Amino acid sequence: QDQQRIRNFSIIAHIDHGKTTLSDRLLEVTGTISSRERRDQLLDGLDLEREKGITIKAKAVRMAYRANDGETYELNLIDCPGHVDFTYEVSRALAACEGAILVVDAAQGIEAQTLANVYLALEHDLTIVPVLNKIDLPGAEPKMVAQEIEDVLGMPKEEVLHTSAKAGIGITEILEAIVERMPPPKGQRDQPLRALIFDSHYDAYKGVIAYVRVLDGVLTSGARILLMGTQVEADTLELGAFRPGMTPLPELGPGEVGYIATGLKSVVDCQVGDTVTLASRPAAMPMEGYRPAKPMVFAGLYPVESNAYIDLREALEKLKLNDAALAYQPETSAALGFGFRCGFLGLLHMEIVRERLEREYNLELLITAPSVEYQVLLTDGEVVTVDNPSDMPEVVRIASIEEPVMQISVFTPTRYIGTIMDLVTNKRGAFETMDYLDPQRVLLKYKIPLAEVVIDFYDQLKSRTQGYASLDYSLAGYQEADLVKLDILVNGTPVDALSLIAHRDFAFANGRTLVEKLRKLIPRQMFEVPIQAAIGNKIVARETVKAMRKDVLSKCYGGDITRKRKLLEKQKEGKKRMKMVGSVEIPQEAFMAILSLN
Ligand code: GTP
Repeated sequence: QDQQRIRNFSIIAHIDHGKTTLSDRLLEVTGTISSRERRDQLLDGLDLEREKGITIKAKAVRMAYRANDGETYELNLIDCPGHVDFTYEVSRALAACEGAILVVDAAQGIEAQTLANVYLALEHDLTIVPVLNKIDLPGAEPKMVAQEIEDVLGMPKEEVLHTSAKAGIGITEILEAIVERMPPPKGQRDQPLRALIFDSHYDAYKGVIAYVRVLDGVLTSGARILLMGTQVEADTLELGAFRPGMTPLPELGPGEVGYIATGLKSVVDCQVGDTVTLASRPAAMPMEGYRPAKPMVFAGLYPVESNAYIDLREALEKLKLNDAALAYQPETSAALGFGFRCGFLGLLHMEIVRERLEREYNLELLITAPSVEYQVLLTDGEVVTVDNPSDMPEVVRIASIEEPVMQISVFTPTRYIGTIMDLVTNKRGAFETMDYLDPQRVLLKYKIPLAEVVIDFYDQLKSRTQGYASLDYSLAGYQEADLVKLDILVNGTPVDALSLIAHRDFAFANGRTLVEKLRKLIPRQMFEVPIQAAIGNKIVARETVKAMRKDVLSKCYGGDITRKRKLLEKQKEGKKRMKMVGSVEIPQEAFMAILSLN
């Protein structure tokens, strides 16, 4: 394929601004899919993605488009995820493109994620085609938002296209803009092969399928390839392009986007961001920007039925084949028994993994409150990383603790500045900058501990601003903080899975709130159950779950049997997500109570 007639692009947008709808329209107008297929929203492959209304995994589709100049162009649409948990995947998808369509909802305007993705696109020198979507909405203000795009992003408002992906308005104009405004790729055919992996998935028959963008050189079917980051070699069992189904091709040349079936057994060997080259004639240098997936948030996963441990292990093994960012290792909890400590990119990733384990593998799981990874400097000079509060060394052995700190950007109408400042202060955040986009909207930047972002920050931000504020974040580094471990004792026994790390200034208040919550969450037992919060040996709060007055079944004695059975079933239902800890039953909610301490 002549590179002059190739265009590689992505669509960047804030969640719900219409990326998926627009992608489907482009596929439909170019005849890549029929309009019936469009309704199935091809690009959102995973069921969960569709249900949650978010795009998680980047995919690629090749379209053929006959432009007004009479030439037929090969357009490769590389879909990139829209959630902050997946910023690294976004950056790799963008690295595979020359251009990006920026979709902005004409009724909503620019949001935090929009801006974050535009910056990423600019970092990769992409040509951006701004598009106002949803101009059919009665609340649309295309003039105002086009002005905003000019003011904030510096793109002339005359270049902003107006579309309705839903109604199919302005779609051809977008295709023409892709051809006219975006540059073709500039690869060298005679150079050693370098292809960027921007996504991958595991296929039971063909092994790992790597989604690649060729930069230089040519890959032919059957060639032996080398993955430069992981130093793994593999055979090219098949290669081709997605149109939209997998369509085999004899070769992928410079500038082309497609797939390689590698036969590899796990996506861990074939990671996003790695460079593919030929084993027989390797490139001198891999592409920049490769970064092995790094989990940021950790939680314990335990089967509710302890005999399901092996099933859980097998399920995690299988999920991991397809998810390089998922980390896990066996963990034993005095309270919960055998389980796994799992690492995730963020809370959304954690939610997705849990749901898949439960739905696809039929497991009933108990999950502990998420934690971050602390760097603990011991008095003897050793540094240990701790991602489970119950593993925190004894106070006397600790010289200092550092925690991960995020840089966050919040976009908000100005009327909410006060409440956001208040929220951030409560979360130990530090103000950095405030920029007015226009008289009504500002961009606020803060540094804030990840541990605080993980705990209900997003929900609170949304509820305090009626959903108007949007959030983006990235890791800014590690920072020392005065942290202590807060232990929870149930019936006099410390429950390791309920321990948490808190800032010293907030630990007392957290302890009090937590035991109060637990009192309400832990059901009454046959005996009185004290619930205590402790820092070291010092009890800082106490509540009591009163004993059950009577056996609930006693009132059924002599009564009819169906009523009794119903009651038993109801009890069983209630027991579903319970774990016996010592002689006390603790429900799932108790382990998550930490997530809503305010
Ligand atoms: P994520 O996958 O979460 O990133 O969302 P998205 O950006 O892909 O948005 P999606 O295409 O799923 O659209 C979000 C909602 O907006 C859906 O209910 C669409 O039907 C609707 N929508 C998309 N485009 C238009 C449009 O042009 N006009 C109107 N009125 N609604 C639209």
